[in-house]
Amino acid sequence: MVRSGSESSDRQTARVPAVDSSAPSRPTTTEPHAATKFYGRWARLYDLLATWLPGVRDVRRSVAAACGLSAGDTVVELGCGTGSNLGYLSERVGDEGRVIGVDITPEVLALAADRTKDLENVSVVRGDATRPPLDTTEPDIDAVVATFLVGMLPDPAAAVSTWCDLVGPGGRIVLANATTTDHWSAPLLNRAFRAFVVCSTPPTTQVRYDGNLVAQLETRVSTAHERLHDESRATVDSRHAMGLVRLTGGIVGEPGG
Ligand SMILES: C[S@@+](CC[C@H](N)C(=O)[O-])C[C@H]1O[C@@H](n2cnc3c(N)ncnc32)[C@H](O)[C@@H]1O
Repeated sequence: MVRSGSESSDRQTARVPAVDSSAPSRPTTTEPHAATKFYGRWARLYDLLATWLPGVRDVRRSVAAACGLSAGDTVVELGCGTGSNLGYLSERVGDEGRVIGVDITPEVLALAADRTKDLENVSVVRGDATRPPLDTTEPDIDAVVATFLVGMLPDPAAAVSTWCDLVGPGGRIVLANATTTDHWSAPLLNRAFRAFVVCSTPPTTQVRYDGNLVAQLETRVSTAHERLHDESRATVDSRHAMGLVRLTGGIVGEPGG
């Protein structure tokens, strides 16, 4: 079941931060939102890629490990998409823990809800990752995860700061994002990566040959990861999938790592 940002989840418990009743039930970004339209149309194809692309499962396992979760913890995944990370996070927090997936696109959330329907500790909610629909007065979020999201946000550094505030000092943030690689097969991989970026960046209503798209993505990704470094002690900084995915995990409030 997909829940709107203003509805509470029947799978939530007192341990889970309540969905903020002051949060908008619809995303605050301008509608029709390019990402929502794009992922709404391509939800099933994206799900296949998100599950089966070479190396992507290792990324998801590494992301879950980097959260440093314990049984009973609460973890929020922002921009959770079709839910490919949610099972890995669910395993880490166990039956007493909670996993909350947030995404702006109803169609991907429906797939995420279906994928996790047998996981009692997982709930999904529609909302904008830059204004997470969660009650920040409850200090119960142990970790925030965002994979392949920050490159789509207009101000990724501000978003990371918002997430740091959400978890508070001692909380963990984990980011994973695609970027160019310096792997030995970089010429081939980077060409494929650039083509993938052009084809998969919303809106795709026109054929673009804009090299700046990759530069813009990389700037956003590095800005977000640098902000996380600034606001935390980096506990993990690693490359995956032949160097194409950068993973950074940090503990908030302990800068300088
Ligand atoms: C590339 S997909 C990544 C999905 C998932 N994190 C994964 O690793 O497969 C990006 C997702 O971010 C969502 N998204 C984009 N902008 C968003 C926003 N401002 N708030 C919440 N979700 C957003 C899209 O709907 C899409 O599901």
